[in-house]
Amino acid sequence: MRYRTLGNSDLQVSEIALGSWLTYSGGVEADVIQACTEAAFDAGINFFDTANVYGRGAAEAAWGEILSSHPRHSYILATKVWGQMSDDPADQGLSPQQINKQIDASLARLKTDYVDVYYAHRFDPSVPIEDTIEAFQKVVEQGKVRYLGFSEWTIEQIQAAIDIAGPDLFAISQPQYSMLWQAPEAELFPLTAANAISNAVWSPLAQGMLTGKYKPGQPLPEGSRFASDTMSGPSVLVYNEANLEAVQRLVPVAKQAGMSLATLALAWILRRSEVATAITGASRPEQVHANTEVSDAQLSEDLLEAVDRALGDAPVTEPRIAAHAQTGVKHR
Ligand SMILES: NC(=O)c1ccc[n+]([C@@H]2O[C@H](COP(=O)([O-])OP(=O)(O)OC[C@H]3O[C@@H](n4cnc5c(N)ncnc54)[C@H](OP(=O)(O)O)[C@@H]3O)[C@@H](O)[C@H]2O)c1
Repeated sequence: MRYRTLGNSDLQVSEIALGSWLTYSGGVEADVIQACTEAAFDAGINFFDTANVYGRGAAEAAWGEILSSHPRHSYILATKVWGQMSDDPADQGLSPQQINKQIDASLARLKTDYVDVYYAHRFDPSVPIEDTIEAFQKVVEQGKVRYLGFSEWTIEQIQAAIDIAGPDLFAISQPQYSMLWQAPEAELFPLTAANAISNAVWSPLAQGMLTGKYKPGQPLPEGSRFASDTMSGPSVLVYNEANLEAVQRLVPVAKQAGMSLATLALAWILRRSEVATAITGASRPEQVHANTEVSDAQLSEDLLEAVDRALGDAPVTEPRIAAHAQTGVKHR
């Protein structure tokens, strides 16, 4: 495993991280969560990504049990705030009250005194941005959070925060990025690079599509995420015929290069210096091992051109933020 520095922070994160979104919020059993998490430690993964809203606390609670049996300095932990946490529609967003309440609840579930990274899971345009920033800065001052991040903010929202609090406010950004979703390359990566903010990218395998297991015109493979009632995520935007065909054109390209398609897809992400880590999901420990082989893979210019040819027009390349994101900025 190789490690990269997160923005201007003192954190060295593994190039492959493990996330807990659909999988560890109820998608797989507790013993499988344990096996995947231990496989991650064995493979050198030190960066674990969760959110308060994953299973409304279930994913954090599952990891609280497992991670707290490891020395706290041996792992880097990220969680998020913003999503609706109960049936009360007011129980969401980025008001100072919500941030204060949710960080304490997350720390209790995660069985730790601090998280290394606290993300705004989306932007909240109903709250003055100055209020949100001050609340985030306060949880850092209190020692509950080491570094701050954002996920799926617009360029305007990121710039507004930097204009108020300076580029050191954030160490990390969390966009969707994969061979099929290249949207961050146009505007987000240049902005984050200019401000020394790293990217930890989500759904790097397009939720499993970039392993090649979903085939055009064929039934969904049994036991796979898209065949599961509990695990089909909202960003199934990438699941369409054009993308399925593009992925099948990638299969011989990976074979010719002597690597699995998943390894090629992850190495393709890690070719970018703006990316610190690819946050993978795993529904079984074998996937963790397979996905951590990537750290040694090198991609030649010829191979990158072959990838572009195989993908054709399939990838999303224009700037676009993900599901649930909102535009606009409110000021005091
Ligand atoms: N900030 C945000 O808004 C946001 C949004 C989404 C995700 N995230 C973060 O990003 C993390 C990763 O997202 P993701 O789970 O969509 O990532 P992903 O790595 O693109 O997809 C993971 C899924 O692909 C399949 N898979 C993975 N490796 C495989 C392999 N080697 N062979 C075959 N199948 C394989 C597994 O599904 P099956 O085995 O079930 O088919 C696995 O659960 C999340 O856990 C979360 O922490 C953040």
